Amino acid sequence: MAENSKFDETPRIPVDYVRGILQPTPTCDTWDLIWNFQAKPDDLLISTYPKAGTTWTQEIVDLIQNEGDVEMSKRAPSYIRFPFIEYVMPSIGSGLEQANAMPSPRNLKTHLPIELLPPSFLENNCKIIYVARNAKDNMVSYYHFQRMNKGLPDPGTWEEYFENFLAGKVCWGSWHDHVKGWWKAKDQHNILYLFYEEMKKNPKQEIQKLAEFIGKKLDDNVLDTIVHHTSFDVMKQNPMANYSSLPTEFMNHAISPFMRKGTVGDWKHHFTVAQNERFNEDYKKKMADTSLAFHFQF
Ligand code: A3P
Repeated sequence: MAENSKFDETPRIPVDYVRGILQPTPTCDTWDLIWNFQAKPDDLLISTYPKAGTTWTQEIVDLIQNEGDVEMSKRAPSYIRFPFIEYVMPSIGSGLEQANAMPSPRNLKTHLPIELLPPSFLENNCKIIYVARNAKDNMVSYYHFQRMNKGLPDPGTWEEYFENFLAGKVCWGSWHDHVKGWWKAKDQHNILYLFYEEMKKNPKQEIQKLAEFIGKKLDDNVLDTIVHHTSFDVMKQNPMANYSSLPTEFMNHAISPFMRKGTVGDWKHHFTVAQNERFNEDYKKKMADTSLAFHFQF
């Protein structure tokens, strides 16, 4: 791919391993505190593999809780409304400290695989919303995100990234293990498992599922308001949801905007025929032991 626009040459965040999962070093350095995080029974957690539609879901959840009050949802950027518990955001600070300082009921965010989730979430039977996205689009989205985000390693070339992603050598580890691990856990715990592709195909229906899970009964017109305000085009213009409020030294939207395309099937513009074959063969093996199924296109 002909994407040479790179960040300045100043160093990116270094990475290391936590129990076999690649993480930015500030996460590794504070791992004991993260693992011992005390969740409360009324915490609501949004969990995803990076780039699966976290921000979209956050916006929907916030609007459901505030019964479609759009001004209320613009009170702060999403990364303040939903502390990212295991991440230390350059220029913002530790998500853990943010969460600890937040009054209840709290909305929280994580990208941790289920085996690294602080145990207090499951012990307290917290409501958890997990969103999964098909691996091909997820990979493409993550690649472009790493290009524009100094808080993650340089992705290298697309060809290099493709191999690293398949090998699980990216932050938060293997996509396959992530989606399978949470899928397996969903029936034993208070987990609503959703799909990006379903949200795209039938947003109102998925928003209704979310409202029911959260315990809110909403009128049809409120649901329509939420569908509108959480559409890609509207969110792209919303500075409280599009990450434009962060300094450009950290996220450079000129390289690739955070709200990039928001579609299903964009991978077709990135995968070569050979990469697609290689991906499918690898996928068959890694996903043979799960009932999970994804749509790669409409
Ligand atoms: P693309 O890079 O494919 O465009 P996350 O919030 O987990 O980081 O995910 C970001 C991805 O979700 C990006 O995907 C982004 O464009 C997409 N996204 C964000 N808001 C969306 C919305 N309202 N509708 C559809 N996709 C959305």
